[in-house]
Amino acid sequence: MPTRAELFDVYALHGRDGLRVRMNFVSSADGAVTLDGRSGALGGDTDRTLMQVLRTMADVIVVGAGTVRAEGYGGLRVDPDDVEWRRARGLDDQPGIAVVSGGLHLDPTAAFIIDAVRTPVIVTTDAAAAADAGRFDSVATVMACGEDDVDLAAMLDAFARRGWTQVLCEGGPHLFGALLEADLVDEVCLTLAPRFVGGETGRIVQGVAESDRRFSLDSVVTDDEGFAFLRYVAP
Ligand SMILES: NC(=O)c1ccc[n+]([C@@H]2O[C@H](COP(=O)([O-])OP(=O)(O)OC[C@H]3O[C@@H](n4cnc5c(N)ncnc54)[C@H](OP(=O)(O)O)[C@@H]3O)[C@@H](O)[C@H]2O)c1
Repeated sequence: MPTRAELFDVYALHGRDGLRVRMNFVSSADGAVTLDGRSGALGGDTDRTLMQVLRTMADVIVVGAGTVRAEGYGGLRVDPDDVEWRRARGLDDQPGIAVVSGGLHLDPTAAFIIDAVRTPVIVTTDAAAAADAGRFDSVATVMACGEDDVDLAAMLDAFARRGWTQVLCEGGPHLFGALLEADLVDEVCLTLAPRFVGGETGRIVQGVAESDRRFSLDSVVTDDEGFAFLRYVAP
């Protein structure tokens, strides 16, 4: 099994300068993005360790509202050992958390808000913020980026102004599609699970027209359970 230390090594950031957007996804070998409605059911022990390693390296973790609603996403924090790793590199103890929701269809008592160790950021449109931001007063920071659609490049600029340049995006497929379409993805960390699940579940990129974006394969790690961990980087 790859150790946590080996994963830190293989997934080391290619420099901390400048904005970098790294995606992390798990997929079955036949391309399914969920099993039984959840991504976690596809993963294994190394995948969970890798998720912690990638979170530890990030300034902010961003997810789409669909993932928050489907997965009951929340309580996100890195372990004490990883806090030490971050402190040694001058990072805040815990990464920030941001959720993208064009319509602000989020519950102010959702786990990602009430269990958060840092005040979460909700990224939305100017229109939704003007109409509904008050529901999140004192529990989250509502960041308006874009008139009628969330402008993801503006969101990343706003992150950078907070000092959040290493961005880890944990999905879901529609947010990945939108980031890819806007040419904002620098890296994709894909766990391929040794499972064939069929069914109707979608793929890791959804909601955008077909295109052919080439990434380079940077590394491949495997574990004893038959998982492959692929790191792709944008040219
Ligand atoms: N296999 C994996 O690694 C993995 C990872 C993550 C999620 N998933 C799975 O994926 C499923 C959810 O898929 P999904 O595609 O609905 O997730 P998603 O991309 O997290 O959520 C889509 C929602 O996020 C908001 N959003 C995303 N991009 C936006 C943009 N450019 N502008 C404005 N709003 C944007 C919108 O929220 P509003 O509707 O609030 O406006 C949209 O409805 C779940 O079953 C989850 O388990 C799998």
